[in-house]
Amino acid sequence: MSQHPIKICPSFLSSDFAHIAEEAQKVEASGADWLHVDVMDGLFVNNLTIGPQIVSAINRSTSMFLDVHLMMYNPFDYIERFVEAGADMITFHFEATEDVEETIEFIKRCNVKAGLAFRPETSIDMIPKFLPLIDMALIMTVEPGFGGQAFMSDMLEKVRFTRHLANALGVREGGVLDDTKKLPLFDIQVDGGITDATAAQCAAAGANIFVSGTTLFKAADMKQAVAAMRKSAADHFVEKVTF
Ligand code: DX5
Ligand code: ZN
Repeated sequence: MSQHPIKICPSFLSSDFAHIAEEAQKVEASGADWLHVDVMDGLFVNNLTIGPQIVSAINRSTSMFLDVHLMMYNPFDYIERFVEAGADMITFHFEATEDVEETIEFIKRCNVKAGLAFRPETSIDMIPKFLPLIDMALIMTVEPGFGGQAFMSDMLEKVRFTRHLANALGVREGGVLDDTKKLPLFDIQVDGGITDATAAQCAAAGANIFVSGTTLFKAADMKQAVAAMRKSAADHFVEKVTF
């Protein structure tokens, strides 16, 4: 592997919201790659969390790459507000809008990266046509809505399918078709129940971006926890998966 493909993304949902700036700075100091921010609307999922104002507060507290995960209906209507608030990437759910392609295009036109997320019950058949259009596929490894849930190991097959598909189609970083494989890997993110052990399993299935809330925020030393998860994933990562 020429490029080091692993990214670790602490999920801000597990932080202490009474200390937003300090928690964001703690994540930055941990050596993590991206800060993952979970936006929930109380409709698409049964929970309410963060809106653009809080994303803006996080953005003013850190220079980290903000990976904003929208678990909300009508994501299109809020893209500009999250971009203005400081999002560097916006990932929305396939199931949350009928205008998936239009939403992807608009996110890209706003000069931020576009990710597309898939809930556990969503069929793998929905994934292929979007891979060349997006910067990242997010395979949910729990039902979206809450931190601290148990990892769903049957999602490993979906991760394996997605990596196999990216390889077979020649889709590389940014959804670019490149059979020469000179570009870095296509990004596949997993989110939900990620520990060192489940990160290893997901990496062996081809995932390279790992969101983790409970494991990283509950650790006595976040820096050590990030390094341990990165090593666990890197030691097990497989690009040429079989499906
Ligand atoms: C769940 C969110 C996750 C959540 C992960 O719907 O998308 O990002 O914070 O938390 P853990 O790592 O505790 O499962
Ligand atoms: Zn998330």
